[in-house]
Order: sequence, then C-alpha cells, then structure tokens
Amino acid sequence: MNYIASKVVRKKVLFFIIVVLLGFKTAVAQKKVVPVPPLRVENLICEYKTNPIAIEAANPRLSWKLLAQQRNVIQTAYEIRVGKNAVSLTKGKNILWTSGKVISDQSIHVNYAGPAQASRQKVYWQVRVWNNYGQASPWSMVNSWKMGLLHPEDWTAQWIQNNYDSDTTGGPSPMFRKVFKLSHNVRAAHLYVTAHGVFEAQLNGKRIGTDYFAPGWTSYNKRLQYQMYDVTGGLKKGNNAVGVTIGDGWYRGYTYNRIKNVYGKKLALLFQLEVLYTNGKRELITSDKSWKVSYGAIRSSSFFDGELYDARKEKPNWSTATYIDKGWDSVKVDNTIKENLVTLIGPPVKKHEQFFPLKVLTTPEGDRVVDFGQNLVGWVKFKLKGKAGDTLKLYHAEVLDQKGNFYTKNLRTAKQEIQYVFKSDSVETYEPHFTFQGFRFLKIVGYSGVIDSTNVIANAVYSDMVQTGTFSTSNPLVNQLQHNILWGQKGNFIDVPTDCPQRDERMGWTGDAQAFCRTATFNMDVAGFFTKWLKDLSADQHKDGAVPYVIPNMLDSTLAAASGWSDVATIAPWNIYLAYGDKQVLEQQYESMKAWVGYIQLHSRNYLWDTGNHFGDWLFYAGTDYADGAALTDKNLIAQAFYAHSTQLLINAAAILGKEDDVTKYTGLLANIKKAFMGEYVTPNGRMISGTQTSYVLALNFDMLPENLRESAAKRLVNNIDDYDDHITTGFLGTPYICHVLSRFGHTDMAYELLMKESYPSWLYPVKNGATTIWERWDGIKPDKSFEDPGMNSFNHYAYGAIGDWMYRVITGINTDEAAPGFHKIIIAPHPGGKLTSAQAELETLYGKIKSAWTIDNGIFTLDIIVPPNTTAQVVLPSVTDQITESGLDINTIKEITNITREGADEQMNVGSGTYHFVYTLKVKNKKS
Ligand code: BGC
Repeated sequence: MNYIASKVVRKKVLFFIIVVLLGFKTAVAQKKVVPVPPLRVENLICEYKTNPIAIEAANPRLSWKLLAQQRNVIQTAYEIRVGKNAVSLTKGKNILWTSGKVISDQSIHVNYAGPAQASRQKVYWQVRVWNNYGQASPWSMVNSWKMGLLHPEDWTAQWIQNNYDSDTTGGPSPMFRKVFKLSHNVRAAHLYVTAHGVFEAQLNGKRIGTDYFAPGWTSYNKRLQYQMYDVTGGLKKGNNAVGVTIGDGWYRGYTYNRIKNVYGKKLALLFQLEVLYTNGKRELITSDKSWKVSYGAIRSSSFFDGELYDARKEKPNWSTATYIDKGWDSVKVDNTIKENLVTLIGPPVKKHEQFFPLKVLTTPEGDRVVDFGQNLVGWVKFKLKGKAGDTLKLYHAEVLDQKGNFYTKNLRTAKQEIQYVFKSDSVETYEPHFTFQGFRFLKIVGYSGVIDSTNVIANAVYSDMVQTGTFSTSNPLVNQLQHNILWGQKGNFIDVPTDCPQRDERMGWTGDAQAFCRTATFNMDVAGFFTKWLKDLSADQHKDGAVPYVIPNMLDSTLAAASGWSDVATIAPWNIYLAYGDKQVLEQQYESMKAWVGYIQLHSRNYLWDTGNHFGDWLFYAGTDYADGAALTDKNLIAQAFYAHSTQLLINAAAILGKEDDVTKYTGLLANIKKAFMGEYVTPNGRMISGTQTSYVLALNFDMLPENLRESAAKRLVNNIDDYDDHITTGFLGTPYICHVLSRFGHTDMAYELLMKESYPSWLYPVKNGATTIWERWDGIKPDKSFEDPGMNSFNHYAYGAIGDWMYRVITGINTDEAAPGFHKIIIAPHPGGKLTSAQAELETLYGKIKSAWTIDNGIFTLDIIVPPNTTAQVVLPSVTDQITESGLDINTIKEITNITREGADEQMNVGSGTYHFVYTLKVKNKKS
C-alpha cells in the first residue's frame, strides 16, 4: 500500500471511530431519556410464522406476546392496524384496516378482518395493547405478511417434463435450465415453484433457499404445495439463468414394499418467477417449452437407497447465463392441472445440528467405521481426496452388533448407500441431494486416509420446527431419555410424522403419530406441521370415513380403519387445540372427525365395534418370564375404548364450535358405547376380560367405567404392574396413558417406579443399553445383547417416547387448563418422586415462556415458576407442612397470589403472571438418591 492510500485508510478509520463513539454516546443519551416502557408487545406472528410469505388464508390469524415489568399483567384491550406501506403505517396514515380498540384479553389467533387481499399483496401490521394497570404499550414493530397465488389462473407457468424414455424411477435426476434477460434493475422478484418429485433450484449458480425435499410430501393429486422465495437479491439487469434439479422423492421413488410411481411416472417442474422492475414494469419467467433439460452427476437418488453421484458428469456452472448448453434437449409441455396447488403450511425441511466423528474404528470384520455418537437422520458431508474415476462408498447403520460389526439387517431392503465417483485427484466436497439416512455409524469403503472433524461431518435434517420445550432432572438416565425422545422426534418429523426414518418404510403411520402427538407439542412447535398433515388426512380419508393406516396414503385403499391408528383423526386436532388454543384446526378437521366416528357407527352392532382389522396394542411386552405370560389385550376391547375416546373428542370439538345438536347426538351415542363396553368386557365387579395393563389404562383413561368401579380398577392396574415386578407391559396404545392414569388415581409413586425401572421392559432399559433415540421395541437389543427380529427392529421410532408428555405434565407439572387452552390458563402442579432431587422444564407457548423448576434439599422444597404476561396460573404445591414463602414472604401477604386453599396436603392458589420463588418444608422428606 502506498503512502497516500494508507493515509486515506487512516482517515477512514478515524472517521469510523468518531461515528461509533458518537453513536454510542447518542445511544447512552437515548437510554437515559427513553425509559423502557412498562408494557411492550413483541414476537408478532401471522399463521404461526414471522413475516410469512405465500399466505392463503383470507383472514389470517395474528398473535403477539406481551412483555411486562410488573406481575399479574392481563391484556385488557388491543388495537391492530394494517397498511400497504410500512412507513405510512407507523405514522397512522393510509390504514387499510384497523381493529379499533377492542376490549379483549385475546392476544393469540386474532383474525385479520379487513378487506380480502389479492394474490401477491403484501401488507404490514402492528399492534398495541392495554393492560389491567391502565398502561398502554407503544405500537409494536411493524411486521408483514404476503399473500401467495390464490387462484389456479395466477399460474401462467406450464408443467414441463423431459422427453427421455429412459427417465425412470431410480434413474438420473433431470436438470432443467433457462437463460433470460432482464431489461432493467430489479425492485422485487418472487419465485413460485413446485415439482412432481423433490427439487433444488439455483439462480445464477447459487442455490435458492435453505430448504430440502421441497415441495414436501402431501396427498399430491389433491394437494400439491408450492414454495415461494423472495429472490430479489439474486437477480441483475442483463442475462440471468435458473436451473432446477428434480429427484424421485416421494412422488415416484421407491417406498414401502418397493412400491414405486405412487403418484406418477414422470418428474415435472412448474416454475414462475415474477420480477418487478424499478420502473414499475413487470417481467415473468415461467416454465414452458423454451427450457432445456439434461442429466448431470446425480445418476440415481432415492430416499431408501441413497445417491449415486458421478462427479465426472458434473456440468459446472450449468445454472449460469454463460454456460453453453450444447447437447441439452428441449422439454415437453404437459397439461397437468393446477387446481391442486396449495401454499406451504408447515415448516420446510432444513439442515440442523452437525455431528463430528467421535471415534473412527475398525470392526472385527475389518470395516472402517465412523461413530458420530448420535443416532440421527440426515446425511454425511465429506471433503476427501481420491483418484479420478475411483468410487467412494458410504453405508449407514444405526447400531453395531454384539461383536462390534456394522449392522444393517434391520434396514430391510433400504440400502442407505452413497456412491461417489471422484472426478479428480484433488480434494472433493460432496453432500447428497434427494436422500436421507437414519444412522449413527458410517462405513467408509474406498478411502483409507485420515478421517476427522474437518473432512467427514454428519448433518441432522428435519422439519424446521422451533424447539419450545426443555426438560431435565437430577437423574442423568431420565435426562438421556428426554434427549432420546427429542431426537426421536427430530428424526421422524421429516415433513410428515413417520414411523421410522431408516428402513424401507418411513411412512406417516397414524398410530405412531397419535401416540406421540401430545409429547411432540411439548418439545417443539408442531402446530403448522400437524395442521398441514391433518389436511392430508382429510384429503385421503375415504368417503365412508375410514382413515387410512398411513397419511399421505400410498398403500392399498383397503388398508384403512384400525382402532388406535385411525383415531389420530380426532386425537391430533384435539392435541393441537390444547397446545396452541387453535380452534381453527378443530373447524378444519371437524367433518373428518365426524366422518371417522360415523365410520365406526356404521360398522358397529348394538354400539359394539367388534369387527375389522386392528393392530391392537402394538409391540406390547410379549415375554414369558413372568407368571402371567404375555400381556395381550383383546383387540376389540381396545377398539371399543377408542370408539368412545374419538366420540368424546368429537363432542368436545362440537361444544367448542357451538354445534349443540351434535353435542346432544354424540353424548347419547357415547353413553351407549360405554354401556356396550361394560356389557361385553367388564364383569359386574369391575374385572376386565383382558386383565392387562393396557386394558385397565384405556378403560380408566377414557372413563369407560362408572365412578364406583374406577378406584378398584386402578388398584388392579397397580397389582398387575406388581405382578410384573414393577415393569411396564403396554404397547403403542397403552403406553401414552399408563403413567397419567396412575397419577390420576393417586399412584404417582408407581408411575415413578415404571419410569425409573432400568431392566427390560422399561423406558430406561434402552438408555442403559446406549440408546440415543427411542427404540421401536422395548428390547431392540435383548438382555443377552442379541437383536430382535431384523424384520422389525428400528432404533428410531418415537411411539414409546410418549412418556414425555407425563414428564412435562406431571413431574414438572406444566399443563394447560382445557377450558382456556393454549396455556392461557396454566396449571403448575409438580409431583416430586422417584428419588429425584430436582426437575425443571421450560415451555415457550404462544403467550411466552412458562417455567416450573423444583428442588428438594434436606426436606426443603423450592419451586421457581414463570407465568407469562396475559396468562394466569393455578399452582398446586404438593405435600405442604408449614408456612409457604414466596421470595421470602408469607404467600398470604402477596397480592398476586389469591384463592389459597388446602386440599389434603396440597396447597392450591391462583397466581398472576410473573416470576415466583416458593419455599417450604415437605411433608414426607424425600431422601436424596
Ligand atoms: C410400523 C409401525 C406401524 C405398524 C403398524 C410398522 O411397520 O413401523 O410403527 O404403526 O407397522 O402395523
């Protein structure tokens, strides 16, 4: 650098420092004069998303969170204003719609009620609120939403395909490209794109977006999602190019039983890029016959089998304008309908955590294997050196066998294999495109150099759900269980809730989803995820109301209507309603819920549903090492119990939606269903024909028994557990409820026995055996260390993880009052036990963060809670002996704590929002473990 240049630099640096200092001074000065308002509004979301694009709803739902300095804050009124221009909105000008000041404590799911917005329209909104202290918040930050393409006519793009006869399932991925010229500078550009298959789009050589496997999996023929991207920054005046590669994906790729072409044989692209110039003129670039198509390096790509990538066949810069596409072919225009196009509701699939090699080992069979330490779902990215033309092979497995060898038998026919052909003798970097694997171990063939965290990395990939819950205790094994539940969720929430992510299955099995759904709502924000999937459930539900075994349904249409599976039609909407206060999901699903109950009615005689094929209490403990032998529950008994449960949930939904006639009708039906149950499966003294844990659990959880028989039935359940030496024997259907039923009838100690049990069958048995996810079976690895039947032995199946719901709701005691769902009215009722000396959970709700954290130290119980603004909580403190203090003061002196009552040893009270610290001496001293 010459002298003059360095002088210029010095001047610039000096100038920069002065600016920073001045800015700092102003900030400090501002801080002095502008006090933080006591009431603020933040976290504005529209349809569960921040500043969403491609909104379809005419009256989207708006939610916000209050931030308050004081305790006991309730919103008393709100005002929303909406405009087409952010700046004038903040000045209160050009308002498109205002709610006016609405006297209401509603701060979630407030419907926009202004004029309907046209396709593509972007609007801005902000909100202010008032509270019970007479304080008003300032107007919030401005957020926005943008409408998607609402009508089929909005699509001028045409579906395009390639012309190759050889284009079949398992073949190369076609690449479509187009060069186009923009005559002016770009003010805004939006891309609307979807495919038959899964796609990755590029603009001027750069990948568009960070999502994978777009457009996701839906019941394609009825609902095909499109993605919308803001690509303003990626375009320039002059020549530009786009490229889109399409993989088989769910559309025509291999699925269960090696079925292929489920939705069609040909991959296709629909692409519409809308450009707005700075001069106000518009340009449209759409898929049509002017596009070119070719193949490249992806020779084959499949969810089950992996990817074959021949780097020698790469077409460098193929999505740039300067690339010469000699030899590329023309495309075929296809007239497929566009009526099924819908916007993206759930979160797209994205890359998340990275894992590095924990160990690199050589197995007794001589394989070179990397251990990533976590059973995860995603893929491996590598940066390795080979020789041009050599093939590197990567195999993926969840476990090593008894001898320490790489074990893939439980993958059944899924190959989970990556083959990479080097193009050079230098280091090459690669990660797969249209495939995912379930694995902890990676076998590398064809590379013998060093493997470390710089050159081999595993990437977890799952639906982009925000983690909302955390849970931990003083017991590391229980913490590992919670970890496994969370990772079971991550690995199996890949656009649809799947049964397992590794073997040749990976489908949206309804039974698994209903069992785990409530737990899922505690760990992550799954509102959009389930809302989307439930739309596919409705779409694939049969005319007679039968709900297929899997959603989206790609099985034979006769495979539908199984108890405990199809009941997801009522159970999932209800759980989403409870967790998010989402009435709309009940509206959306009401006809489907009703149709499912209608189906059972149709197939029952005298209110008894004892026909059809049922999976029963899937994978219950079937061992013989206890006196009673197998814990088999009568399948028809189960069917009748779920018939009642679905009917009850339908009644609940009808009541909330104001459908009084249905409430009356189905209440009558429910009484008859229960009567039929009693007549068929229960003796007059309350003994059930199947004396199993699941039998009593379902009968009690679904209130099948009259009041006078419940206590004794709960006792029989406890006795049954005793008979199994305090082990759980339930399968998929009894497991979600067993601990809840025990707690409800005063046997939380027994629930803790089950939770803390370390020998098979139990939740901690897999943990003790090194599990990092939830296993499909209680004994995936048997006590003698051999594996269960490889025909069905997944190490990543979330159903048994349904205990997570009890852990949050009972151990730390965070629950929603069903009468004020979405945690508007919270219940915090912790239940210490199981020799735990502490437990804590946090849950980010639509109102804000809830916390419940307790400790026991020398018989002193402390409970720290957070109740978010605009909510109230009922706190139930257990086993109270003496005076309770809150932050050092007698609770009776604290104005935010009201209605203090004693029930047995429990002290109940209502508390307003805020942070509280309770301390008292426990009645029964819990000895330290
Ligand atoms: C799946 C299960 C599913 C079951 C029903 C299995 O293969 O993995 O989780 O619910 O089939 O039969």
